[in-house]
Amino acid sequence: HVYAVVMAGGIGSKLWPLSRKKSPKQFLHFFDGGTMIRKTVERIAGAVRRENILIITGKQHRRLVNDSLPDFDVDNIIIEPTIKDTATCIALATTFIRKRDPDAVTIVLPADHLVLDEEHFLKTVSKGVRLARKQRGLITVGIHPDRPETRYGYIQVEPSVMIGEENDDPDDDDIALFRVKTFAEKPDLATAEHFLQSQDFWWNSGVFIWHVDDISREYSRSLPDLYEDMQNVHAFIGTERQESVIEDVYSWVHPVSIAYGIMEKAEKVYMLAGNFGWTDLGCWDEVIKIGLGLEGRDMDGSESIMIDSKNVFVRKPHGKAVVSIGVDDIIVVDTPDALLICKAGESQKVVKAVEMMRREP
Ligand code: GDD
Ligand code: MG
Repeated sequence: HVYAVVMAGGIGSKLWPLSRKKSPKQFLHFFDGGTMIRKTVERIAGAVRRENILIITGKQHRRLVNDSLPDFDVDNIIIEPTIKDTATCIALATTFIRKRDPDAVTIVLPADHLVLDEEHFLKTVSKGVRLARKQRGLITVGIHPDRPETRYGYIQVEPSVMIGEENDDPDDDDIALFRVKTFAEKPDLATAEHFLQSQDFWWNSGVFIWHVDDISREYSRSLPDLYEDMQNVHAFIGTERQESVIEDVYSWVHPVSIAYGIMEKAEKVYMLAGNFGWTDLGCWDEVIKIGLGLEGRDMDGSESIMIDSKNVFVRKPHGKAVVSIGVDDIIVVDTPDALLICKAGESQKVVKAVEMMRREP
């Protein structure tokens, strides 16, 4: 069967002051349809049966998952004792899925993305699922970059080598498939500019598709200690020792991302060209660019008064009146206990501020 795992344990700080340790990005909502995690689950429900959709998150976010998705089956929520990054998270989720179905193909999804063309997204992942069964490789989904973004990971593909597959679905033809050469997580600006020029680098959307056997084999090669311990977890799933066995693994494991821990060293990695309108809403400027911040209006639709002002974007608590006079190009995000005032185009620097606040005693 086909399974989906939604990873929702991150503590994204890029949309401060709205995203906080206590309310990470995946639990925020920007528009109708609920929080980002809810939208993620609803979206993938178009390709995967609901009983096969799992969410994996940290203990401290259990409540937020429940608030976002009150009807979600609690048996399908995997709780991590601590956050140890995506390689650990995916190892645990894979272990649970293998226990349910040793022949499963899994779609791994971040919980903090926006997809504009959902139909095309589903077509892409469905093609990924068929490839994962047929080619038995690790399938990634890349996004064609339009700027030298430093907040994303990059996937380098073999230039113009499209792998021939027997196309049983003629609708597929527009979703190109490449063989992957390497991964490069979050480059500096000069490197990102170089990537953009070279044309063989794509953004990593963070979506992965594979057969549980294929990803398990890569863990046994690249992270053998974690793999061994997960075998142990596998044996105790559903028993009263489940929780303590998982805690044992998480007590020693070092945080490592799936890109560094597994994908960089893996064999047979492919990339599907994702062309479904994608953003991870990684900063306020991006939220605005995608049309979720309306000039002169709050994102809840209420209007603020603007006099001799243009390009002013406000997000504020419900019912608060805002007036701007004689200022241009400004982003204002107001919350009960924190306020951001930022020049439009510079919201990437918010993470710097968050770092500074964390350093304070
Ligand atoms: N359960 C769990 N446990 N979830 C996690 C953990 C963890 O330890 N770490 C991260 N996540 C979740 C986050 O909540 C998010 O949904 C997803 O995994 C990706 O993690 P982020 O922390 O948001 O990573 P990123 O945005 O910096 O980078 C990743 O996404 C980019 C695209 O948005 C990477 O995959 C990049 O390569 C990619 O370009
Ligand atoms: Mg992210």
